[in-house]
Parts: sequence; C-alpha cells; structure tokens
Amino acid sequence: MIKAKALTHRFGNDEVLHCVDFSVAEGEFVAIVGESGSGKTTLLSILSTLLTPTEGSVKIIGDDTQNIKKIDDFRRKNVGFIFQFHYLINYLTVYENITLAIDKEHKTGIESLLEELGIKELHDRYPYEISGGQRQRVAIARALANRPKIIFADEPTGNLDSKNSQIVFNILKKMAKKNNITVVVATHDLQQAKNADTIYEMNDGHISNYN
Ligand SMILES: Nc1ncnc2c1ncn2[C@@H]1O[C@H](COP(=O)(O)OP(=O)(O)OP(=O)(O)O)[C@@H](O)[C@H]1O
Ligand SMILES: [Mg+2]
Repeated sequence: MIKAKALTHRFGNDEVLHCVDFSVAEGEFVAIVGESGSGKTTLLSILSTLLTPTEGSVKIIGDDTQNIKKIDDFRRKNVGFIFQFHYLINYLTVYENITLAIDKEHKTGIESLLEELGIKELHDRYPYEISGGQRQRVAIARALANRPKIIFADEPTGNLDSKNSQIVFNILKKMAKKNNITVVVATHDLQQAKNADTIYEMNDGHISNYN
C-alpha cells in the first residue's frame, strides 16, 4: 500500500531522516513512536505526499508519488488526515466542517458515520461548543468522510487525557478495520501504540521495529 525506499530528508544542512526504508500493507494499522524531534512528522509528511523528500522514493497505492500528475485530486480521493490540533473551523457547524471538502457522492453516508462515532447529537453545534475528545471524533469523521484508502494521523490524541485518548484511538481503529483503511499514526503514547498491528520506532532519523 505504501513503500518508501531510501528516504533521506534535510532541512538546510540538517539531515533529519537517514536512508529510511518503510512499508505498510493494505489494511494494516501502523504506529510510529519516538522521541520529540526524532523525525515522525517529517516521515509522515513525506509518506502522505505533503513533503517531497531530499532523496528516495515513495510508492503509494501503486503510484510513485513523483509520477502523480494531479496530486490534489489524488490526495482528496485517497488520503485522510488527522492532526493533533484538529483544525476544525470555528464558525462552521460540526456537519459543515465534515462536509466542507467532500465529494457529493459521499454525502449520503455522513449521518450514519456520525452515529457510529457517537457524535450525531452534535450535528449542529459549533466546535467551541463541544469537548476536546468530541472535536477529535469530528476530525476522525472528517478524515473518514471521503472514504479514503489511507489515513495519516499525527498525534491524533496528543491533547487528550488518557481516557479520551483510549476512546478516540479505539474508534479510529474500529472504523479503519471495518472499512479496510490503512492507517499510519505517529504518537508519543506507547500505550496507544500497543493497539496497532505493527509498531516502529524513530530514533534520531532512523527507523526500526519496536520490540
Ligand atoms: N520545517 C522545518 N525546518 C527545519 N527543521 C525542521 C522543520 N521541521 C522539522 N524540523 C526538524 O527536523 C527534526 C525532526 O522533526 P519532526 O517534526 O519530524 O519530529 P517529531 O518526531 O515529529 O517530533 P515531535 O514528537 O515533537 O512532534 C527536528 O530536529 C526538527 O527540529
Ligand atoms: Mg511531530
């Protein structure tokens, strides 16, 4: 589903990824753990086509990212993003936030998606009228709404307490398994990471299996 080869990335002279090889199978739920500054966000940005690596290549859903002509269309069709700070728009309702950027044909599934995530009653509320855990579930709904093949989540539970982190992580996993979505999560939280199928550890720009 994702195959990265010999990824090296530099910011100026600062090499933050050193020849990283990494792959994820279809339907796999992968967690990447590692200290702050070890390169998790950089790797996730490259895998998700948001950042071009200095060296190396990424194949995603069979296409080499360098050869994808309409990258915006590719992302919209195939990739969902969830970030620590949910980036919901405060003057749009929950429903409007979720449907803002989705294709028409996916609008019909939204109500049942909200129901499954336990946020149906929040439909007409504004982000500032709901809790942090609820906001993060809205962010998951938004990522799922376009029926992506892959979801990238960077610290999706980073600003939640442990109980809500557990809830949000479990929902993400359940929804991903049910819809055969491949997930790559970067997290500081080893407890959460243990729910993944596979755990990798970033260490100063190198990646290895966590055990
Ligand atoms: N845009 C940038 N310009 C310069 N250096 C950067 C940039 N983004 C990240 N870095 C550096 O690259 C290294 C890896 O950063 P990255 O954000 O990938 O780490 P991380 O593992 O996600 O950390 P955290 O757990 O704190 O989110 C760090 O040394 C960071 O300072
Ligand atoms: Mg990060």
